Amino acid sequence: MPAARIGEDAPAEQPSSRPGVDPAEAEEFIRLFHAENPNAGPAEPRVAAVREEIDRTGTYVHTGEELEFGARVAWRSSARCIGRLYWRSLHLRDRRHVTAPDEVAAECVGHLREATRKGRIRSTITIFAPDGPSSRGPRIWNEQLIRYAGYRAGGRVLGDPRTAGFTDTARTLGWMPPSPMGRFDVLPLVVSGGGEHVKEGPQVHEIPADAVLEVPLTHPDHAWFAEMELRWHALPVISNMRLDIGGISYPAAPFNGWYMATEIAARNLADADRYDMLAEVAEAMGLDTSSDRTLWRDRAAVELTAAVQHSFDEAGVSLADHHGESRRFLRFVEKEEASGRKCPVDWSWIVPPISGGLTPVFHRYYDEPTDTGPMFRLDDQAAARAGGCPV
Ligand code: ARG
Repeated sequence: MPAARIGEDAPAEQPSSRPGVDPAEAEEFIRLFHAENPNAGPAEPRVAAVREEIDRTGTYVHTGEELEFGARVAWRSSARCIGRLYWRSLHLRDRRHVTAPDEVAAECVGHLREATRKGRIRSTITIFAPDGPSSRGPRIWNEQLIRYAGYRAGGRVLGDPRTAGFTDTARTLGWMPPSPMGRFDVLPLVVSGGGEHVKEGPQVHEIPADAVLEVPLTHPDHAWFAEMELRWHALPVISNMRLDIGGISYPAAPFNGWYMATEIAARNLADADRYDMLAEVAEAMGLDTSSDRTLWRDRAAVELTAAVQHSFDEAGVSLADHHGESRRFLRFVEKEEASGRKCPVDWSWIVPPISGGLTPVFHRYYDEPTDTGPMFRLDDQAAARAGGCPV
């Protein structure tokens, strides 16, 4: 994508082309809120008020309780998330008044600090201004608030190949990588403003190093493992999914849980199109890598996972493992069924990337993912921005 297009707005995102809130969707959400929160009283007066507000303004404003409940239900409905048992504990940072890019960036840093808590990670969401009929909310271009840069050089990538496009974009926008460049350089935030700041173009903000907790990786039995100088960040914060609640769409609503070891060990560090570490680990283990049938990949992936678990445990950083998390997930499914709710599940995302059949989540079918109700969604434009193709 030519650099000249960076920061241009795609027509589909212009506020003028955005219709007002669908009153039926709003009503459905308000009724759900009152049905599940009997202390909030009867739904009728609020439904009438919301309908009147939509008639008058084209939209409506969620109460703090509605917003918190909507965000929690969006998590509860995330078909790809294995960690949903604790959906009720999601901590809300209500920042709906924030639209300026520098304030969005500062609040993202605040989110990192509040959610990390020196390793006692707390599931947290920060919700910025919504899109509305007459104004737009801000956008965070990063796929996650914390990601490592991927530098293209000579047909290869130093760092995380997944972020190569985004890293190019950040540099085009003026970001200066550290010198020398490394494999684990934290990318800056790239934010475009909402409201009156919508025309200002994207801003680049470095994340202060002391807001990013990282864990250097060591192995409980193999001293050589530390020499590979692998590390990973403690906090996964998805930052480019929009949060849709009752007809209102929040395009910037970064949220985090804590990691499951296999996400880091068996995907981020193992995938051939990511850090691709399996061969190096297998060779250091002394395995025969000349044939797939020696299972060197499998054995290396298990030892990488052991290293991630060991290192996070030593550092006192919250981290799930695929066995415990699978059991908890089935408890979640049972609870949802007992509450009379559908429980949408994407089997291919829930089953862990190693030892699938050794976990109970493998051995059953689930309800199909749905597309209604409060929901996190990744729209094409957000995906393109995070991939380095600004739209
Ligand atoms: N798999 C993603 C990553 O490795 C993170 C997705 C969210 N994970 C979580 N445990 N909340 O960065």
